[in-house]
Amino acid sequence: MIDADGFSYRDGMLHCGTISLTEIAARVGTPTYVYNLDSVVQRYREHVTAFEGLRHHACFAVKANSSLPLLQMLARHGAGFDVNSRGELHRVLRAGADPARMTMTGVGKSHADITDGLDAGVALFNAESASECRLISDIAAEKQMTADVLLRLNPDVGTDTHPHISTGESSHKFGMTAGDIRSLAAQSAWLPGVRIRGLSFHLGSQIFSPEPYREALLLLITTLDDICGTLDIPDPVIDIGGGFGVAYNDEEQTLDLGLIAESIRSLLGSRAANFTILTEPGRSLVANAGVLVTAVEHEKPARDRIFLILDAGMNDLLRPALYAAQHDIVPLREPEGGQTTVFYDVVGPVCESADTFARRYPLPQLRRGDLVALLSAGAYGTSMSSTYNSRPLAAEVLVHGNAWMIGRERQQMEDLFRGEHLLTEPEAPRD
Ligand SMILES: Cc1ncc(COP(=O)(O)O)c(C=O)c1O
Repeated sequence: MIDADGFSYRDGMLHCGTISLTEIAARVGTPTYVYNLDSVVQRYREHVTAFEGLRHHACFAVKANSSLPLLQMLARHGAGFDVNSRGELHRVLRAGADPARMTMTGVGKSHADITDGLDAGVALFNAESASECRLISDIAAEKQMTADVLLRLNPDVGTDTHPHISTGESSHKFGMTAGDIRSLAAQSAWLPGVRIRGLSFHLGSQIFSPEPYREALLLLITTLDDICGTLDIPDPVIDIGGGFGVAYNDEEQTLDLGLIAESIRSLLGSRAANFTILTEPGRSLVANAGVLVTAVEHEKPARDRIFLILDAGMNDLLRPALYAAQHDIVPLREPEGGQTTVFYDVVGPVCESADTFARRYPLPQLRRGDLVALLSAGAYGTSMSSTYNSRPLAAEVLVHGNAWMIGRERQQMEDLFRGEHLLTEPEAPRD
């Protein structure tokens, strides 16, 4: 995926736009995530353009990448946000986002999540169960407020994606059946703090066909029509979630959003103008706009393979260990013709065999200190990272035009145990 989203070789070295990744690594160290903000803005614009003609708002799914300057940039370009917790809410508020363009999603919103959402003035809450609706209503009523709510439909629609990122089937914990939604709507008089504004779904991630969206939309519209028989919903909202498939390599093809917009138009027909359509794109705006720059720690020949051990591990980029995701790997120094190819098992330093990025991966011969980039690491990279093995969180750098900045410093050692306490009682005498 080199060349995509602004990463390319210039004068034999990998650059993001005009900025050399080697220079960034020399200044900031490794492992370091680098995001191309111009590419994120470009993807956002393409997303919005695909739904032109509909009354549409895009709410970036913050869980995909929660870098503050990245959120700030999207907010400046008019994006709304899908926040999945009060932590994400406070992040986007810090980034200067407008709560009136936010929807709070999540299958288990806590009292504190809902309270903070109401206090901040988020536009919508996507409720996933009757119990959650009651909690939202109780908290809002106590504050003498009314919360605008979308009920999340579980359409029981399968998607051809990894089971860990599929969310729209009846065996999944997400959303409610159409029947449950109808009965909840019928009892909504008992929810004085809630105003039902429409329905939502989210089918999963990395979906490459418009078909599941069409199937889910059909059920959503019928269910919405049913509840509109009992409730007065003057400006109904349909939220189709995110999940729009992204090409991580040359064999995959990004989902054509125009086909989804077309399904919405054809299913709503002449009524389309009466509806507000929300989307919650995450991965599709940021996946290919980020790389993880990492250094070779060791090259280690074993009986039947050669391990290339990097200084980035599964704690920095969990996707390969979590769901066998594949990221292209390229050296920062452009390979020259005629160089020998070595088929490496590319791994991290974490004490888990799952800490493997690729097996038998063709690369030029690399040595300790050489730099490589794991491509398409902009989505669910840092946002899923951890300090497992007490490894500090990686730094984050953002490139914008001909300039770059550090968005997040590399975590310092003392930050690793900030807030932790040692035993206070004196050491007991030993026998
Ligand atoms: C409710 C909801 N909306 C949107 C998204 C974003 O999905 P994607 O990053 O695949 O676009 C997710 C991802 O899990 C989600 O749970």
